[in-house]
Amino acid sequence: MTAAERRAAELRRLLNHAIRAYYVLDAPEISDAEYDRLFRELQSLETQQPELKTADSPTQRVGAEPAAQFTKHKHLVPMLSLGNAFTDDELTAWNERLARTLDRAVVPGGYCVELKIDGAAVSLTYRDGVLAVGATRGNGSIGEDVTGNLRTVRDIPLRLTGDDVPPLIEIRGEVYLPFDSFEKMNEERVAAGEPVFANPRNSAAGSLRQLDPALTARRPLRFFGYAVALPAETPLPFKSQWDLLETLSRWGLPVAPHRRRCASLEEVHAHAHAVEHKIRGELNFGIDGLVAKADLLRVQDEAGDVGGREPRWAIARKFAPDIAETKLLDIRVNVGRTGTLNPYAMLEPVEIGGTIVKLATLHNEELVHRKDLRVGDTVQVKRAGEVIPQIIGPIPEKRTGDETPWHMPDRCPACDTPVERDEEEVAIYCPNPACPGRRLEGLVHYTSRGAMDIRGLSYMRIHQLVEAGLVEDAADLYALTAEQLEAQERLAEKSAQQLVQAIAVSKEQPLSRLLFALGIHHVGAAAAELLARHFGNLDHLMQAGEEAVGEIRGIGPVIAESVVRYFSDPRGRALIEKLRAAGLNFTEPASAPAEGPLLGKTFVLTGTLPTLSRADATRRITAAGGTVTGSVSKKTTALVAGDEPGTKLDKAKQLGVEIWTETDLLQRLGNAS
Ligand code: IVH
Repeated sequence: MTAAERRAAELRRLLNHAIRAYYVLDAPEISDAEYDRLFRELQSLETQQPELKTADSPTQRVGAEPAAQFTKHKHLVPMLSLGNAFTDDELTAWNERLARTLDRAVVPGGYCVELKIDGAAVSLTYRDGVLAVGATRGNGSIGEDVTGNLRTVRDIPLRLTGDDVPPLIEIRGEVYLPFDSFEKMNEERVAAGEPVFANPRNSAAGSLRQLDPALTARRPLRFFGYAVALPAETPLPFKSQWDLLETLSRWGLPVAPHRRRCASLEEVHAHAHAVEHKIRGELNFGIDGLVAKADLLRVQDEAGDVGGREPRWAIARKFAPDIAETKLLDIRVNVGRTGTLNPYAMLEPVEIGGTIVKLATLHNEELVHRKDLRVGDTVQVKRAGEVIPQIIGPIPEKRTGDETPWHMPDRCPACDTPVERDEEEVAIYCPNPACPGRRLEGLVHYTSRGAMDIRGLSYMRIHQLVEAGLVEDAADLYALTAEQLEAQERLAEKSAQQLVQAIAVSKEQPLSRLLFALGIHHVGAAAAELLARHFGNLDHLMQAGEEAVGEIRGIGPVIAESVVRYFSDPRGRALIEKLRAAGLNFTEPASAPAEGPLLGKTFVLTGTLPTLSRADATRRITAAGGTVTGSVSKKTTALVAGDEPGTKLDKAKQLGVEIWTETDLLQRLGNAS
């Protein structure tokens, strides 16, 4: 071997290893820059000495020339499709049929259950471990040779690793497009004035059939393997479907997560429910069900297939679709308590997975434009688990020309004040603190559990009181009488009295809660707690300048500025005086614990915790001597992460900060008492 040959082989190995770490294991080992450097070195070696190019060289992923048309590829063994079971009963019936075929009471060896990936089926032929052909499923027997395109799929290895790879093998699996890539791709298409794709599956299938691999290369396609085909004379290198998946993974092929070996059909049912109702909502790619397979290959062999179409030993347990098509009737705007205008979609009611959906969130104006949503569009709506329904995007082919683009109104829909744009936050907001839209949301926040915690004041009740002209600001709540409340619709005498009582009790809440309840921009429960503990009473805080406020550990300049601005605004001061006159407590009990299990420790919260609200978690941590701050730094003791954590989680991982669940937190707190 010449030095150049050795170096080229080394570079191929390093690059292929890096690709696998990045795409398959999701654990990058080298930086993008380092990757590019190695890649370019290999490229230039190959340009100088073209004989160094090999089929498994990562430079060859995008190398193929555009095809005039695809050639046919005959599959080694036909690619079968699957029968469907739409309900538990249908799954049970399949199982009984299978057991009868096998002439057994139960299916020996149990089941291997996998996600059913909603993508495009492909077959990859590896000769001596090197990717030789990649083909679409076609009619099952003959597909199209799309090797050039499949080589661009980064997580399809160009060479398999392992000394037990058979000399000739076809790996079957699914090419798919992750949701985040799909959205990003569509955003880029909107920006470039190109039509958007309707859904990830269509765009994956379409991308595979691009004649120019350079175009396919721009689509971030991914792959999961789930089956193999071998020449008749080759003995099977595994005994069960489970082993097959493990082996594929060992050879360097990505295998879908959440696979499970089930001993009984009951376990299969249970796993299907868990995946449909929980796991599905957490995945970054589409699935349309599960595939249950008899695990033992000898059982599969014994069961055979039906007319060469569907195996008897496997079935697709389909889920109700979590995506539906409907009409976007209107885009409306809601005013949040800090004044931000939030657009939301009014939809023609549509059933998605058993629930009727009429509304979907749109977050902000930018998102509406990014997705090129127009009023009157036919749209795809996705609902997963408990999350608020989301609009995936419009279906441009269904446009009639009557659709109208939408813009954020220039004036607040609740008070007609001209809106303002917040440069940094991309938000559009109503600057009028007396805006009735803001006021309603502000009151809802004021009374909420984490703030003044006034039980019995629901959103609808507050709305009613505002409409009746009884309440304009938070201080008005304290002037409400039982008689006034009783005069309201649907409020009985007893509940009216209870409500007056609950409002009165809230006067005693500590300053930290009041500060949070006021809804000062940027002041969350944690900041409110720090401010209250530091100043002890509201008058001290109101007299403090920006510098004094900003000096508190955990309070940054943005919060300090916002706090001082609030209290120097005559409207802010007027509300405070009204609250003082109503007899509210303006002090914080000097309870800063000089001990506690979390003394001297600093925490950051992210995501939704399973049981504790943000405010509760903050309170418990501070009561145990800890501090809660807004951003992760090296000094952070731990990040307490819940569902849908934000970027703070990445930051914590980067800095090596400990990550706790709510349970971890409760345990540490509990150990003390
Ligand atoms: S096994 C002989 N496993 O679903 C067994 N198929 O509706 C054939 N699919 O054509 C397929 N995920 O394209 C199998 N984990 C999985 C799958 C899967 C997705 C696709 C496949 C098949 C189609 C049938």
